[in-house]
Amino acid sequence: MHIKYVNIEEKIAKRLDDLFGVKDCLIEVNPGQVILPPKYKDLGERIMNMEVRTDDVWLVSYPRTGSTWAQEMVWCICNDLDFAKAKSMIGQSRTPLLELTALMGNDTSKLKDQLGNSVEQVENMPSPRFIKTHLPSQLLPEQLNAVKPKIVYVTRNPKDMCVSYYHYCKLVHGLHGSFDEFCELFIQGKTPIGPIWSHILGFWQQRDEPNVLFLKYEDMKKDLKGAIRQVAAFLEKELTEEQVSALEDHLSFNSMRKNPALNLEPLLAMMEKPQAADENSDQKFIRKGKVGDWKNYMSEELSAKFDSFTDENLKGTDLTFETS
Ligand code: A3P
Repeated sequence: MHIKYVNIEEKIAKRLDDLFGVKDCLIEVNPGQVILPPKYKDLGERIMNMEVRTDDVWLVSYPRTGSTWAQEMVWCICNDLDFAKAKSMIGQSRTPLLELTALMGNDTSKLKDQLGNSVEQVENMPSPRFIKTHLPSQLLPEQLNAVKPKIVYVTRNPKDMCVSYYHYCKLVHGLHGSFDEFCELFIQGKTPIGPIWSHILGFWQQRDEPNVLFLKYEDMKKDLKGAIRQVAAFLEKELTEEQVSALEDHLSFNSMRKNPALNLEPLLAMMEKPQAADENSDQKFIRKGKVGDWKNYMSEELSAKFDSFTDENLKGTDLTFETS
């Protein structure tokens, strides 16, 4: 299949440029009306035609669903709970984000040079590879369907996802503008990565495939030990109860927030981070870790609009989300 790149309709493109403070910052990638930086043109076909290995472990998710959390769980389970390495080697080296180079399109800092090309990094990794991506299924390597490596798909109730994404865009991409403005574009499928429902439902439909595990953030919050056991069983690894407890500690919110290999602080310090409109020293990549934070951001009206957006898209599926 060939990828088609088109300009985003003018009015929305202008709003996005204003919000992110960068001219022509995003384009539409098809199939799927996926919203990505123009730099993705250099990677798109290469990703789609990439070689997939049977012993790869893929972690696919929409941004801000707890993917770093789930990815850390996967990596530790498959690497004999090597916590020392997990703390000393940054996530991008252990579990690279496949499309990172496209997302850092405008960054000219030394970080970009140091990280190199993310697709090349994945291509050159020794097996078993742990690969993370926020791309929807239609832009992923075609070989995934034939080779069937293990794929963990993580998702989260979209109201919290949207709030978390807003903060992330402020922190990392210097987003200007209000939460309401961001949320409006999110509902329209015009924030980076684009429409959420085709992303989520694309994997929900595959949830019964033996090589796919569909995880929800809220379930990890409710019972982290249970999630660890479930992921270990899926990865065909055995853990003792002592190991499950040790991993639970490593994956706790406070421990992950303190872990410089995961909290992006060393990377953010190196980036030419655009100045956010209202600097808030509380802002962190690993930020709050709560279910229901949307209540602090959404008016009744916006919440009702979001609920209709969710109901319309989940009609006829048996997928549900807990929002508090
Ligand atoms: P919040 O912004 O709501 O706090 P991703 O890694 O996909 O970008 O997802 C980031 C979200 O996962 C953030 O949500 C972050 O705080 C949360 N998160 C990361 N590690 C966590 C943990 N150990 N426990 C709970 N939430 C965690």
